Amino acid sequence: MKALTWHGKGDMRCESVPDPKIEHPRDAIIKVTACAICGSDLHIYDGVIPGMEKGDVLGHETMGEVVEVGSENKKLKVGDRVVVPFTIACGECFFCKKGHFSGCERTNPDHAKAEKLWGHSPAGLFGYSHLLGGYAGGQAEYLRVPFADIGPIKVPDSLTDDQVLFLSDIFPTGYMAADFCNIQPGDTIAIWGCGPVGQFAIRSAFLLGAGRVLAIDTVPERLALARAAGAQTLDFKAEDIYERIQELTRGRGADACIDAVGTEPETTASFDSIVDRVKVATFMGTDRPHVLRQAIHCCRNFGTVSIVGVYGGFLDKIPMGSAINRGLTFRMAQTPVQHYLPLLLERIEKGEIDPSFVITHRAPLADGPALYKTFRDKKDGCVKVVLKP
Ligand SMILES: NC(=O)c1ccc[n+]([C@@H]2O[C@H](COP(=O)([O-])OP(=O)(O)OC[C@H]3O[C@@H](n4cnc5c(N)ncnc54)[C@H](O)[C@@H]3O)[C@@H](O)[C@H]2O)c1
Ligand SMILES: [Zn+2]
Ligand SMILES: [Zn+2]
Repeated sequence: MKALTWHGKGDMRCESVPDPKIEHPRDAIIKVTACAICGSDLHIYDGVIPGMEKGDVLGHETMGEVVEVGSENKKLKVGDRVVVPFTIACGECFFCKKGHFSGCERTNPDHAKAEKLWGHSPAGLFGYSHLLGGYAGGQAEYLRVPFADIGPIKVPDSLTDDQVLFLSDIFPTGYMAADFCNIQPGDTIAIWGCGPVGQFAIRSAFLLGAGRVLAIDTVPERLALARAAGAQTLDFKAEDIYERIQELTRGRGADACIDAVGTEPETTASFDSIVDRVKVATFMGTDRPHVLRQAIHCCRNFGTVSIVGVYGGFLDKIPMGSAINRGLTFRMAQTPVQHYLPLLLERIEKGEIDPSFVITHRAPLADGPALYKTFRDKKDGCVKVVLKP
């Protein structure tokens, strides 16, 4: 089959790889009808995620048709149309039983490596390095889905691929980001990053009762898409974000701040961001948490900082003094997608949101390598790429 494979920083290829096979009786094989490129894939593309090997198949936003099921899989049948969560979960362990699917303790065969770095291992993820299971991803013609009786959700024929594909990741992620904020009616939620995840966070914040969303980015078409959802936009290259949020909240700060940017922010010449760049370039640091620092700074006393932008290792100069003295709550996670799926599918079916609004590019798989670059560089008005193998 054809798949998108990683060969090093900035080097994606569309090439032939062996077809996936059922390896465990609970597996299923999916013929992929649509898959997408995530902002998290860009961290791999840019070479900042450890544990990648040449030839690894990327992709964790995938849906398709079931073409084969293992003997113990009682949930799926050949022909079912499903969306596959990016987090692989067993459904039975201590964490899965609590709904913390992205903390599943059984699905990362490489858990020892993750434990060394992070103390404990999270769940395995599709197409996301040999720190997180080394599973082949879904930017491919076919995908093996482990624990396929737990993850994939069947979707009704009345909804198109474009409407349901993002249940695999970015819709639940944006929703979780807002959910973490414990939004009270009328709250002001500040959101850094108007990429696909930020866009879903904006709309979810409104669905959950926010009175006002302040959306921060600099890319004109992304800011326009945020405004279309009713957000007030701030351009971090044109204005001082802290000063603006102070002004807009009468000096109190935002009720909650969402970091939907993560470890690779664009930065103006602030001192902290220059130090970050030097540290990362000289292997003295792993991440560039400029946005997280700013989000903490801009959050009101006893507010919440919700982090969904991905970080990898050890973050320097996080203003913990500000956080503890002012009673901030931190929430963060790789999304336990399975936990949010039924509720969000229902919201789509009821017409409360149509996730296809975010798609700007549709293309065959072979165009994947070029579109990684277009998406990373935010060229050609690119907000979200969907590939149809
Ligand atoms: N927690 C999870 O489960 C999960 C799931 C999906 C994605 N993510 C992460 O969410 C983040 C966003 O993903 P995406 O798909 O939207 O990616 P993206 O790269 O398209 O979006 C990031 C946006 O942040 C903006 N930005 C950059 N620097 C900024 C700054 N200083 N201030 C404000 N905005 C800034 C960019 O212009 C861009 O529009 C990534 O880090 C990704 O890894 C996490
Ligand atoms: Zn993702
Ligand atoms: Zn589990």
